[in-house]
Amino acid sequence: MGIKRLEELADVTTYPEELKETLNIQEKRHPANVDYYRFFYQLNKHLKLKLCVELGTNLGVTAACLALGNPEGRVVSLDVVNKIKLKGCIQPNIEYLVQDSLAPIPKGIKDIDLLFIDTSSKGTQNKKEYDHWLPSIRKGGLVFIDDIFIAKDINGKITTDFMAEFWRIFKPKGFKFELPLHGINGFGGVILNG
Ligand SMILES: C[S@@+](CC[C@H](N)C(=O)[O-])C[C@H]1O[C@@H](n2cnc3c(N)ncnc32)[C@H](O)[C@@H]1O
Repeated sequence: MGIKRLEELADVTTYPEELKETLNIQEKRHPANVDYYRFFYQLNKHLKLKLCVELGTNLGVTAACLALGNPEGRVVSLDVVNKIKLKGCIQPNIEYLVQDSLAPIPKGIKDIDLLFIDTSSKGTQNKKEYDHWLPSIRKGGLVFIDDIFIAKDINGKITTDFMAEFWRIFKPKGFKFELPLHGINGFGGVILNG
């Protein structure tokens, strides 16, 4: 799938019926987040990926969108705490793990088709996660990284440890791109070399 097609998917507005109530609530709270939720649902509906892994589950909305996009595929989502409670976020094809993103990768997780890195706004952490998980991603696999434009800490101080600097100097083994899916926070992707 080329970048043009990914951009087209980012424009699609439909999302899964099972998550309508949850996404309506999320849309009111954080309108820009819903764009990437819809995108993940559409993407997996089209690509039918066998294995998607998310680092940073939070409430499980992205995991549910990926899972509902392709009920035949497997979704693994991990977080240091379990906060799953919203309607529709428990699905038979999602495995929620409670573990650190840099802990050893569980046996049986290999040839990942899509990795979504969404734990922290610290560029250093995201780079470590990318390096840690890269050997478990298949050739030509997809990596998405959230918050790539964040450059300031909560006091408004610009810090090179944050995402914008990481993203600027990041040279992945593949094609790096940006999609308009998370407002001013930014949303990045990589198609790994085949
Ligand atoms: C921005 S939220 C994730 C949002 C979620 N991906 C979504 O799309 O709705 C970040 C989550 O990462 C988790 N987190 C932070 N550091 C982590 C780490 N080192 N390992 C695993 N999870 C972590 C936090 O507990 C938090 O729930």
